[in-house]
Amino acid sequence: MGILTDDMKRVVNEQRLGFVATVCPDGTPNLSPKGTTTVWDDEHLVFADICSPNTIANLRANPAIEINVVDPFVRKGYRFKGTATVYNEGALFEEVCAFYRERGTKSLIQSVVLVKVEHAQALISPVYDLGATEEEVRERWEQHFDNLKPASG
Ligand SMILES: Cc1cc2nc3c(=O)[nH]c(=O)nc-3n(C[C@H](O)[C@H](O)[C@H](O)COP(=O)(O)O)c2cc1C
Repeated sequence: MGILTDDMKRVVNEQRLGFVATVCPDGTPNLSPKGTTTVWDDEHLVFADICSPNTIANLRANPAIEINVVDPFVRKGYRFKGTATVYNEGALFEEVCAFYRERGTKSLIQSVVLVKVEHAQALISPVYDLGATEEEVRERWEQHFDNLKPASG
């Protein structure tokens, strides 16, 4: 069994949106969202580079990466730290592109980033320290997002 548990896989595959941190040449952080964040196998995540020039340039120079994936309703998720490899040709590139196309991605994929997860840790909102249940948290944030929806009609 690899480092990714069933629950980690569930959250990533449900949410799909990862916030990807890389390191710039000057040591400052670079953080950007990737809605193609997916579990590839028991120890790898993958995302598609559609328009992520800074992330890709940073990874080519320094493969260190961290990805956070959080369920915004239950305020729980995971952080994954590891090492990334960028592919823009070859069998793995084609296989990953075929996976995204099958899932409905229409955008041109410039490259794919395979992340070997070396550390994985749960993220949980401090609201749970106050004794809130998952149902209470979910209800509160569903209500919040419902309230943000424009009124119909
Ligand atoms: C919700 C959301 C999901 C996104 N998903 C992706 C993605 O999967 N792949 C990608 O290349 N860009 C994606 N983008 C766009 C990049 O995050 C955006 O172009 C960003 O400026 C790239 O910055 P970078 O070069 O620092 O990575 C997404 C943007 C948003 C808001």
